Amino acid sequence: MSTAVEAGPRLVHTRAEVREQVAAWRAAGERVALVPTMGYLHEGHMSLVDRAREMADRVAMSVFVNPLQFAPTDDLDRYPRDLGRDLEMAAARGVDLVFAPDPREMYPRGTPQVLVEPGPLAARMEGAIRPGHFRGVLTVVAKLFGLFRPDVAVFGQKDYQQAALIRRMSVDLDMGVWVEVAPIVRDPDGLAMSSRNVYLSPDERRLALALSRGLRRGRDLFAAGERDAVALRAALRGALGTAGVQAEYAEAVDPDTLEPVAAAAPGTVLLVAARVGSTRLIDNEVLSG
Ligand code: PAF
Repeated sequence: MSTAVEAGPRLVHTRAEVREQVAAWRAAGERVALVPTMGYLHEGHMSLVDRAREMADRVAMSVFVNPLQFAPTDDLDRYPRDLGRDLEMAAARGVDLVFAPDPREMYPRGTPQVLVEPGPLAARMEGAIRPGHFRGVLTVVAKLFGLFRPDVAVFGQKDYQQAALIRRMSVDLDMGVWVEVAPIVRDPDGLAMSSRNVYLSPDERRLALALSRGLRRGRDLFAAGERDAVALRAALRGALGTAGVQAEYAEAVDPDTLEPVAAAAPGTVLLVAARVGSTRLIDNEVLSG
């Protein structure tokens, strides 16, 4: 009996190889989707691949831990990496191409002189706590969009502010890339999947559940008729506080402007961030009617 062997994705490390492959796909009239990642893949990333597959003929993935979006005090050096495992996961989901450049390939002249300025959507929450972070994210995503010229790029809702900024960048700069946002994937205990969850000790992981618990409490209050954003934010902070976890922020914002709302409505986004031990975690919930 023969065993079916998954044909793996084509692995490339240079921008020239990306351009050549994408040109071949285009010449064959194929639609291209891009899933940008920093690797150490999990089911959350795989759901982005599945969504990309539904929207295009070819699915490309980038695996690049982008130094430009890390502050000197961030976890760039210890950010988990395992390209072999990433390739196996990508193969199992039928990814066609994995682009895994090193920083010199991505930034051959060092830090770029021209960077993408995120503007007001980055003024609060992650943008306020991590100055320069979104400039680095948008700059690398702009480069990836320039290299792949994808029809569609798929990002996860867990990084809600990031996805909103990338969507806005694509529109404001006429990049012509449809930015698709796929729902958060959670572990059975409710924790939003993240490559950084690997940092959590078993005790910290239990504490980390306060984020999703708080969001569920907010969602339930909203479903029961609560519209006062102050009350919803208090419920969020309360759930974290009860677990002894200090919220960095707990917000109820407009889904497009990301400005705080006074009264929640269907579409309002609850967002929370907290540090558990040395690990920063973020999570969110879009309220529905
Ligand atoms: O969300 C991420 O993994 C990163 O911020 C991204 C979008 C791949 C850019 O480096």
